[in-house]
Amino acid sequence: MAARTGVLLASALLLCCLAGTCYGIVLFSSLPKTLVVTASPKQGQVLKAGEDKITVTWGPNQSLSAGFDSTFKTIKVNLCYAPVSQVDRAWRKTVDNLAKDKTCQFQIVAKAYDASNRTVQSFEWTVERDVPLATYFIRAYAYNSDDVQVAYGQTTDAHKTTNLFEVESITGRHLSLDIASICFSAFSILSLFGFFVAEKRKAKL
Ligand SMILES: *[C@@H]1O[C@H](CO)[C@@H](O)[C@H](O)[C@H]1NC(C)=O
Ligand SMILES: *[C@@H]1O[C@H](CO)[C@@H](O)[C@H](O)[C@H]1NC(C)=O
Repeated sequence: MAARTGVLLASALLLCCLAGTCYGIVLFSSLPKTLVVTASPKQGQVLKAGEDKITVTWGPNQSLSAGFDSTFKTIKVNLCYAPVSQVDRAWRKTVDNLAKDKTCQFQIVAKAYDASNRTVQSFEWTVERDVPLATYFIRAYAYNSDDVQVAYGQTTDAHKTTNLFEVESITGRHLSLDIASICFSAFSILSLFGFFVAEKRKAKL
């Protein structure tokens, strides 16, 4: 009897939790694409992390009738993994439920949205050093006052095939530099040792 009550209690609790997480789920597929986003990188361009800059612009789609942006409070612009860089990488996976989506992991900028000023906004961003080597696009989300996504816009098409660019990781370059310098030091120590041995031998003779 006690066990059954326990099970009942546990399932009631589980239901509550499920309902709690169900409430407020935002599906990407449910968001209207009402932001217009552009970025400076050209299709296929390779940018160096820690050095190269991206200029991103965003704004509401001017051809839509007024009012669709009345709930917009903040715009957050993100760097997002293109499908080619998500293959076999669960930690970058695209999930329709935005709370679980891992497509857009790098925030470029967050700015308050001013519905009375619908001019195009822009921001220049230096690709951060910790951005891994991958292929990317840029997506902006509009958030409402509850910090929930209500609209989006992106630099690529719906299938994420156009306007993709690459980031070349600077850590990779540092690593190869490090390896080169280790090899070089090892080589110089060895040759010094060889020289020393040769000198000793000469002295003996
Ligand atoms: C802006 O909205 C119009 C009307 O819905 C649409 O035809 C057009 O493609 C949109 N522009 C962009 C850049 O998304
Ligand atoms: C509208 O936004 C632009 C771009 O950020 C800014 O330069 C301008 O001062 C803004 N205008 C008003 C009236 O806030």
